[in-house]
Amino acid sequence: MTRGVKRIGLLGAGTVGTALAELLQKRIHACEVSAELGKVLVRDTSRARGSIPTSKLTTDADEVLQDADIVVELIGGTDLAGDAMLRALQEGKRVVTANKAVLAERWNEFKPFLEEGTLYFEAAVMAGTPIIGPLTNALRGSKPLEMHALLNGTCNYILSEMEVGKDFQSALAEAQRLGYAEADPTLDIEGFDAAHKLTLLARLTVLPDLPWEEVKARTIGISHLTGAHITEAMEDGGRVRLVGSVYPKEGAWRVEVRPAYLAASHPLAGSASNRNGLLYRGDAIGEVLITGAGAGAEPTASAVLADVLCAVAERPGPNLLSEAAALPEDYEVLELGPVG
Ligand code: NAP
Ligand code: HSE
Repeated sequence: MTRGVKRIGLLGAGTVGTALAELLQKRIHACEVSAELGKVLVRDTSRARGSIPTSKLTTDADEVLQDADIVVELIGGTDLAGDAMLRALQEGKRVVTANKAVLAERWNEFKPFLEEGTLYFEAAVMAGTPIIGPLTNALRGSKPLEMHALLNGTCNYILSEMEVGKDFQSALAEAQRLGYAEADPTLDIEGFDAAHKLTLLARLTVLPDLPWEEVKARTIGISHLTGAHITEAMEDGGRVRLVGSVYPKEGAWRVEVRPAYLAASHPLAGSASNRNGLLYRGDAIGEVLITGAGAGAEPTASAVLADVLCAVAERPGPNLLSEAAALPEDYEVLELGPVG
């Protein structure tokens, strides 16, 4: 290893991992980052992985961890991915991940490292569209009132394809082909992927210790929706979207995911295909809308690479929220229409 050059160990070289390796190697060749690609974990070492030399591929996670200065986790799932990340963090390495499931479900195990600033996860929510950064920096100057977000590119893609007459299953198959869906797409269509992401956003804005199980219990996906639901919404001039919301209700913060009717004038109604969006309302800032690509190889690799650059520069990861946000008083929440 060259002195001062950080070796990046990659856990997973599927849709996102292969794109990340490509983007990283371009930056390395342009001498824009002092790093090199280390070992790369996969299940099948005989398959080609874009620009990654086969000599770097291994099926042994330990080999990747031992060889790396910085570890990038792009396997997905909560067990192997979580255990490997924790081992790397305990060894004092910085870790970058796009894995919202493991952070939503095993947050407390990662908390010491999040507090230390050695864990980075911008890509876990809204892929390359910046959201963890704004919510944990600039928007902390306002007190949160409510937020509503389209957080799953697969569902957004399916619902927008159904608007032009495609059936649910064909639209899902296309979303999988495009690299938007999770390895287990029931996570997308049953709303749990959006719920994982919303849990992270809610912990960073209103409730630092929000339990995953609480959000899971308030999650409804889109698998029961039919063409009739979509057509009916369009006849009323609006559209159906899977919306994750955080808002004050009955003296507490309510965090939920469900299909909702968005009138054409709603700021999030314009998001189609794999685009995600977040509408944030804060007491001083007013309304903020952040939209952009929320799934897919390059849009996700873009945010992973940004975090790798932070890790190489030894800049800290996102700031956690230290205490629960106060509920706003005399505040009228934006109403979204129910669907299904
Ligand atoms: P993917 O295409 O399924 O890639 C997963 C990679 O991990 C594959 O290379 C796979 O190896 C490897 N892997 C899985 N289990 C393994 C095991 N037990 N041992 C060794 N290697 C294993 O997934 P992806 O779409 O790139 O997503 C990766 C992560 O990014 C997930 O956490 C996902 O939620 C997140 N993410 C994805 C997107 C997106 O648009 N795709 C966007 C944002 C965040 P093989 O290739 O040999 O099977
Ligand atoms: N499966 C996820 C989605 C990938 O469709 O939004 C991005 O996190």
